Amino acid sequence: MFRTHTCGELRITDLGKKATLSGWVQRIRNLGGMTFIDIRDRYGITQVVIDDKSSDELKNQASQLGREFVVQVAGEVVERASKNAKIDTGEIELRVQSIKVLNKSEVPPFTIEDETDGGDELRMRFRYLDLRRNPVKNALLLRHRIAQETRKYLDGQNFIEIETPFLINSTPEGARDFVVPSRMHPGKFYALPQSPQTFKQLLMVSGFDRYFQLVKCFRDEDLRADRQPEFTQIDCEMSFVERDDILDIFEGMVKFLFEVVKGIKFEKPFQRMSYAQAMELYGSDKPDLRFGMTFMELSDVLKGKGFSIFDNAEYVGGICVPGCAAYTRKQLDELTEFVKRPQVGASGMVYIKYNEDGTFKSSVDKFYAAEDLEKVAKKMEAKSGDLILILSGPRKKTLEALCELRLEMGTRLNLRSKDVFAPLWVVDFPLLEWDEEEKRFFAMHHPFTSPVIADIPLFETDPGAMRANAYDMVINGVEVGGGSIRIADRELQQKMFKSLGFTPEEAERQFGFLLNAFKYGAPPHGGIAFGFDRLCSLFGGSDSIRDYIAFPKNNAGKDVMIDSPASISQRQLDELQISIKK
Ligand code: AMO
Repeated sequence: MFRTHTCGELRITDLGKKATLSGWVQRIRNLGGMTFIDIRDRYGITQVVIDDKSSDELKNQASQLGREFVVQVAGEVVERASKNAKIDTGEIELRVQSIKVLNKSEVPPFTIEDETDGGDELRMRFRYLDLRRNPVKNALLLRHRIAQETRKYLDGQNFIEIETPFLINSTPEGARDFVVPSRMHPGKFYALPQSPQTFKQLLMVSGFDRYFQLVKCFRDEDLRADRQPEFTQIDCEMSFVERDDILDIFEGMVKFLFEVVKGIKFEKPFQRMSYAQAMELYGSDKPDLRFGMTFMELSDVLKGKGFSIFDNAEYVGGICVPGCAAYTRKQLDELTEFVKRPQVGASGMVYIKYNEDGTFKSSVDKFYAAEDLEKVAKKMEAKSGDLILILSGPRKKTLEALCELRLEMGTRLNLRSKDVFAPLWVVDFPLLEWDEEEKRFFAMHHPFTSPVIADIPLFETDPGAMRANAYDMVINGVEVGGGSIRIADRELQQKMFKSLGFTPEEAERQFGFLLNAFKYGAPPHGGIAFGFDRLCSLFGGSDSIRDYIAFPKNNAGKDVMIDSPASISQRQLDELQISIKK
């Protein structure tokens, strides 16, 4: 038997017991004839002690140990003289009677401590060692908990978990596919699924009216903190449902997870906001509702006073920042620099200070009288002491820049606490998005999303104005999930493909299997997929989903531990009948 207890298990109530522990040497301290060794495993740390009464052999053995050696120690549980309230086993220690080295260790390349001295790159290269550290280990434990609770909830709601294949053909979710060459069919390729979208719809045709899967999805797209090339979805689909049935079930799931995992109860229904409203008030389809500062269009009060930048702008609008009228020149210059960054894209920023004494001071005093500025303040419901920040320009671009400015002010004013959660549903997305470069429409969600029924006639007249029966769940400015009611009708699906520029032949070639399936009685259906990694990082209070993935890729899409992607041998290439272009 390697162990009788784990390293996180023994308590003061175990005094006098014989115990055997196995684990890693975390730390060794020699204090005047006594040697204290911390032994660590997944469950915790137990201090073991070798004192002057111990045999010379034991003392000698202890002196040979090094950090991260794997050892088995046996001894008696005794009370500690100086207790450590920081760890669960801190009231006891194990007086060692025998030590056995199960395996030696080289000195690890960084310290296996909560605060380590290892840089990012080094820790990624030795990810298996990084995973020994508490913060990283706990992230995976949290992920496990959320996965289990998710399964529990969905199982309880009659969902069944069904696996779908990874070696498939291209699915149009908007990113590039990862492709896998076929040896048996030279010149042909599988594509890895960007999501199991079409398969889950086929499962509805098969009659499995409630499906889910915790499933890997693969997308070859530019990486960011919340994007990995392979990531996990909680993928779900239901038959005989309307939008609100789906929103209810999955709002229920998210509330359940918050309650059982984080102890947070949401009493009220989640807010629902239309896409149009989200763009108008927050300049984003994933608004961070942890704080206010919604946008106010100011064209009517600020145009026509001779300030040509505003006069010529398609959109003039601003946010009211509470309590910041005392911002200094330097702070305001910093903000101006911020909005001018290429990622933000504004050409400049106008401010109005509504001073504590009720007077106004703005960067455009030359053009606006105090009454004009007061009108702005009134419209924005500003109070004395507030700072109004205004941007102008083309509508969409300016709304997006204001969004960045608003988030920046929220961060500066500490209004974006990781312990506060502000969930909402964004609904009524546009069905189609015009792409200026390709001069064609793209599906905003995906081509299987149903339009709002009342908008169907617009296919012929104004496709760009059609609304989709689609929804996203957004928490703290993060899109954690998205889905839609699907098209279950062959003709409507064909219409959709047509408006996306597919010829009937192309549609048939790519999606013939789905169109065919729809000939045999497709139930009305819809679904949603949650970004599981994103949900985990949100619950854990981190901006990066990498922390919640055991073996993630870096920002360049590489796994530096196994050095992937890598070349393959000439023999493999030959077998696949592939030659690499020089
Ligand atoms: P969508 O493309 O919106 O929908 O994806 C669903 C959710 O998956 C997460 N997500 C990602 N997470 C990490 N890294 C990525 N690269 C990444 N891409 C997406 C997001 C997103 O909300 N088949 C549809 C769902 C449906 O209609 O049912 C789909 O995949 O949190």
